[in-house]
Amino acid sequence: MKKILVTGALGQIGSELTENLRSTYGEDNIIASDIRRPEQPAGIFEEIDVTKEKEIYEIAKKYNVDTIIHLAALLSAKAEAFPKVAWEINMGGLVNALEAAKELNLKFFTPSSIGAFGPSTPKDNTPQDTLQRPTTMYGVNKVAGELLCDYYYSRFGVDTRGVRFPGLISHVTAPGGGTTDYAVEVYYEAIRKKTYTSYIAEGTRMDMMYMPDALHAIVQLMEANPDRLKHRNAFNITAMSAAPEHFAEAIQKHIPDFKIDYQVDPVRQGIAESWPDAINASAAKEEWGFEAAYDIDDMTADMLDKVREKIKRNSA
Ligand SMILES: NC(=O)c1ccc[n+]([C@@H]2O[C@H](COP(=O)([O-])OP(=O)(O)OC[C@H]3O[C@@H](n4cnc5c(N)ncnc54)[C@H](O)[C@@H]3O)[C@@H](O)[C@H]2O)c1
Repeated sequence: MKKILVTGALGQIGSELTENLRSTYGEDNIIASDIRRPEQPAGIFEEIDVTKEKEIYEIAKKYNVDTIIHLAALLSAKAEAFPKVAWEINMGGLVNALEAAKELNLKFFTPSSIGAFGPSTPKDNTPQDTLQRPTTMYGVNKVAGELLCDYYYSRFGVDTRGVRFPGLISHVTAPGGGTTDYAVEVYYEAIRKKTYTSYIAEGTRMDMMYMPDALHAIVQLMEANPDRLKHRNAFNITAMSAAPEHFAEAIQKHIPDFKIDYQVDPVRQGIAESWPDAINASAAKEEWGFEAAYDIDDMTADMLDKVREKIKRNSA
């Protein structure tokens, strides 16, 4: 990768990824884009609505990029509230981005999700290649997207690559309406109120990862030797399998009187129960050396520090 266009760059992943890419590949080589404008633009920014057929193509051509990192999407909980809009953004946007990559001969990354699995998928140690019959609009989009990326590789030779992200935990930009958002909120509430009411039930395990590991995985996969890749898209990756009480226990090591209680949201709980408890990431390890650096305790120590500083800064 030398010159990269990022779509959905103002979101939870994109806001940190563009910064990270700018420091590695150079300020002028990263073109951030989103459907909305940033409050404080830093670096090159272009407005792109990914559902408009030619917008990605035109900006990719204008800057002569060699890679598209396609992040624009509607996430799981929002997609259940607006399924038709989700289809238009998640599928329409993806095919427009893939067409631009095909026309301009670009490398291409887009994330799938643990949401691409469904209730009939093996729940524990979920294999890389397994049954995928998701029951949510987001899941339907993600499975179709995985297949579409494989198709553009095998049919047109587009260098498509991707991972299935677990729930991502970060402190820079708030998550955009996913099922695992509780795992971010819990840190803010722990610092503000020493208590958190979880909309996900006790005992509901899902895969999770701290943002620095997610950013590292994107770059590592995109820079991996293609000869080693047996899979290309939708690599299972994970750092931890955790339920709300595990976050509470990790936080109590720093804030001993922190308490968690539960008021379950049936929609998000239903989505969570349709997903795996713990996925197997061995294909990503073998084919491109994926390894997560943060476990739940390392992540919790860092999140509490960063969120505390952020709250202090915002209230100063
Ligand atoms: N965050 C997670 O926990 C997680 C987990 C698994 C997979 N993913 C995947 O990673 C990708 C990015 O996720 P995220 O968490 O950064 O999402 P996000 O919701 O935080 O950000 C998405 C961005 O897309 C933009 N967008 C929406 N519609 C658009 C359009 N029509 N044109 C251009 N931009 C548009 C939004 O303004 C937003 O800035 C998505 O494909 C998502 O499914 C995320």
